[in-house]
Amino acid sequence: MFRKIILTLVVIAGFCLRGSAQETIQHVYGRTVLSLNGPWNYIMDPYQMGYLDYRQKPFDQSTSGKGGFYDNLTGVDKSTKTEYDFTYAPTLEVPGDWNSQEEKLLFYEGTLWYKKDFVMNPDAGKRYFLYFGAVNYECHVYLNGKKLGVHKGGFTPFQFDVSGKLNPGKNFVVLMTDNTRKRDEIPTINTDWWNYGGITRDVMIVEMPQTYIEDYKVQLAKGSKDIIEGFVRLQGTEKSGKVTLEIPELKIKSSYTTDEDGKVSFRIKTRKMDYWSPEHPKLYDVIVTSTDDKVEDKIGFRTIATRHQDILLNDKPIFLKGISIHDENPILGGRLRSEGDMRMMLEWAKELGCNYIRLAHYTHNETMLRLADEVGLLVWAEIPVYWTISWTNPETYANAENQLTVGIDRDKNRASIIVWSVGNETPVTEERNVFMGHLVDKARSLDNTRLIAAALEVEREGYTIKVEDPLGDKLDLASFNEYGGWYWSEPKELPKYTFDIRFDKPVVISEFGAGALGGFHGDEDTVWSEEHQELVYINQLEMLDKMEALRGMTPWILTDFRSPRRQHPVYQDFWNRKGLISNTGKKKKAFYILQEYYKNKTAGKQR
Ligand code: GCU
Repeated sequence: MFRKIILTLVVIAGFCLRGSAQETIQHVYGRTVLSLNGPWNYIMDPYQMGYLDYRQKPFDQSTSGKGGFYDNLTGVDKSTKTEYDFTYAPTLEVPGDWNSQEEKLLFYEGTLWYKKDFVMNPDAGKRYFLYFGAVNYECHVYLNGKKLGVHKGGFTPFQFDVSGKLNPGKNFVVLMTDNTRKRDEIPTINTDWWNYGGITRDVMIVEMPQTYIEDYKVQLAKGSKDIIEGFVRLQGTEKSGKVTLEIPELKIKSSYTTDEDGKVSFRIKTRKMDYWSPEHPKLYDVIVTSTDDKVEDKIGFRTIATRHQDILLNDKPIFLKGISIHDENPILGGRLRSEGDMRMMLEWAKELGCNYIRLAHYTHNETMLRLADEVGLLVWAEIPVYWTISWTNPETYANAENQLTVGIDRDKNRASIIVWSVGNETPVTEERNVFMGHLVDKARSLDNTRLIAAALEVEREGYTIKVEDPLGDKLDLASFNEYGGWYWSEPKELPKYTFDIRFDKPVVISEFGAGALGGFHGDEDTVWSEEHQELVYINQLEMLDKMEALRGMTPWILTDFRSPRRQHPVYQDFWNRKGLISNTGKKKKAFYILQEYYKNKTAGKQR
């Protein structure tokens, strides 16, 4: 029943309303787990009949605490008047959004209940956690009819301690999930991606010793190529205890004693090592042990820094040959569900000649980051502070900061990640500058070894593209989105444009692009044709290549993706068609333009 699996996990600070989720376990996939993936029964509940009584009062806050669908009443007989029954309800696959699994759910936004039965024999000497990789957007979690708590945020993991709450034998979990978009949330009501609802990532029960290794960080210290810096934290009954860090290939084996909070930090001088890079994605076996626990991980070591307009990977200038990617399988039309799905996306990026990807616009699946480590792709990771957020609402800020914290905690040991992005295309106002400024400071306080950025917007004056967003002063990159040849200007005009960038920083174009319906052909001026998209790419690259400080780009986007904002019945049909690959997996002409450009691109002029 319980099996060891090989992937990783994180510290969670999920945005919990009540019954709080605690710090989660780093590298949960390397622990003893019972997977709860597979078919779950579901009930659509647009009026929240399973949660609110007809006076709109939550059943789980009534004196009996009973009355909601989480009671999981079943078994019809002539006297039963229950108006729901999971046993006879259809199923949805978990992990997986609901929209791409049932035609009737494609556009559904609202409340949907899930129920899963499972059998286990809990060991009294162990701790147990119910872990979720991600659930979009808000969910109320019940175990055997009892409420565990609530979580908000569709892209970050969370867990609940269920030690002592599991029955020997039959158990059931019930979730009320709700992906209704709300103004004060993160993201807010308006996005250019599909609002996929449900349990989109893995679910499992994690079995741990009474005192266990909750978290660790093992990375090169800022600006150092021979000091490994980090910490180990124990959780449970005996927090102060002996821990050992081993990196066999580097002949490192060091033991420490944690303090009363269970934590110990370390700095270890190491011999010369094989540094991780896209060409050479070297991962080391790293083993952390304590009296009762052991966890094995695969970690790469590299340095990343900027010097004026250069980006330095392991002290060498690099050009970031990138592409933007959404967490969506264009062929299935839903969230990426399996390692196979994710490898497909990364292999396409590699085929394009990329050494870098932008995972837009939210925290992607942990497996995606581990695969980027493995195949050798540098990563820009981002939180969904997207367009116009409620800048002055403290709850909104706390939510954003939580998602940032969870994302950084989860992936702090991933060599592939070089950039933490705090947002995309946010309008320049005083309130926004304060909000975003705080996020930048928070990111730096959590991780001083990686670059901090955001996808800024540009202004135009005649043929001058101006980049002077004040947030840029706080960031490590001059990174911005510009849609020359699509949302403004004719493609052939682009070479006339020049850039006026206020920052002496590496320029990374976080987005440019154009739409094309795969397989639709015409002359280069025929919008939506592959030839027109190709024309935009040719002129974009000519315009950008003139820029002295250009050090990277992530054109928008690797594949077509679903969007509720794209309604042209012939050319779009609710797909954003800016992919270089269509939703049937067909490469468009512009794919080869960018591939050729990357084949010949070197690390640019040094300063
Ligand atoms: C924006 C935005 C993307 C969007 C793209 C587009 O810049 O960041 O999320 O999909 O433009 O308009 O296609």
